[in-house]
Amino acid sequence: MDLDAKARDILRRNDRGGHTVPTASLYPFQWNWDSAFTALGFATFDLDRAWRELESLAEGTWDNGMWPHILFRHDDPDYFPGPSVWRAGAAIPSSGITQPPVAAIAARRVFERDPALGLPRLRGIFARLAAWHAWFHRDRRGPSGETLVTHPWESGRDNAPDWDAALDRVPVEKLAAYVRRDTAHVDAQMRPTSAEYDRYLALLAWGRTAGWDTGRIAAEGPFAVADPGMTFVLIRAERDLLALAEAVGDAREAARIAARLDEAETAAAALWVDEAGAAGAYCARDLRTGRRAMAVTSAAFLAWFAGLADAPRLQRLADTLGHVLDAAAHAVPSLDPHDPRFEPKRYWRGPIWAIVNWMIAHGLAEAGQTALAARVRIDTRRLIASAGFREYFDPLSGEGAGGRAFSWTAAVWLDWASPSAEG
Ligand code: DGY
Repeated sequence: MDLDAKARDILRRNDRGGHTVPTASLYPFQWNWDSAFTALGFATFDLDRAWRELESLAEGTWDNGMWPHILFRHDDPDYFPGPSVWRAGAAIPSSGITQPPVAAIAARRVFERDPALGLPRLRGIFARLAAWHAWFHRDRRGPSGETLVTHPWESGRDNAPDWDAALDRVPVEKLAAYVRRDTAHVDAQMRPTSAEYDRYLALLAWGRTAGWDTGRIAAEGPFAVADPGMTFVLIRAERDLLALAEAVGDAREAARIAARLDEAETAAAALWVDEAGAAGAYCARDLRTGRRAMAVTSAAFLAWFAGLADAPRLQRLADTLGHVLDAAAHAVPSLDPHDPRFEPKRYWRGPIWAIVNWMIAHGLAEAGQTALAARVRIDTRRLIASAGFREYFDPLSGEGAGGRAFSWTAAVWLDWASPSAEG
């Protein structure tokens, strides 16, 4: 089977009937950003199925507009923490937090493949997409318009060093005993540590006690960190939602989104740190203490994808990216290998993620950084071709790590990394 056929086969096998799981066993439910990226893969061979993926995600919308990070359409003893631990959700049981809002980004790309076919499908989910973005503005907005996360899982970059200091302050004394399931599926060396897991569970318990009042959790909860990843993805998603608002002819919604986008440069500037990396970078900031996380993560390199206009800082960011890439055999490590906390196989503390490469490279290409964009694409192609459709990749050895037969890696292959996607 050639790699395109293998990728399609992975999407079909991870299809649970209108929605897709990231991979069997390790992640047996519908994860928010995984699902949205998966739509890009389906769109290369089955547009109807791509729209169905986005529609199924929209079915989980909360009354307050939030799209939760996991939809539990059934229980599965192989996963912890499942629906009986979260005790959240409206129409569909769910987690109580969100995830990076890539759905509008995916919806625009799927829509543009065939606008005539897509328009009625887009109309069906547009109001819920817009409600989710408005929720971000209301319940996840930092002091300068940055996007904050109330749980590391909300960022999608669970164990990035961005959260270390803020997590250290999360009390774990009252935590009930629990058994992890993730390390039964994947080598513990590739997963977050048990100290991190304790804090993830303590934050979950806090949110559950707060009745999953998402505004209160952001304002009073033990963890609130302004996240460059979430900030840049949301800015990009707002631009794409604006294009979709125009496509459906919703001028009032378009005006609301445009007004929010006026804050984009201020929000990004608030995250900039001159002293980070070789020439400066965008870094997370703990909103409870004001302290910055001095870590150059791949989230910083989503600034181009956000479409920022700050040319001097973007030039410095390109220099920092060059320095990061000098220390890695493959682009783009999730943590700068010069950082003493770098671990090439441990989840978000070093490994390469194909979806992040997809976003970074699209941003670079749009900003005219064509050589860098091409490098990221070619590296992604080579990694997948040699290591398979793995969850993530070691940036030094190129080995695959984490889960196998991964939906979003297959989707990124079909949409962009495969030679057949070129041109
Ligand atoms: C997990 O189960 O590790 C996920 O990353 C949580 O979203």
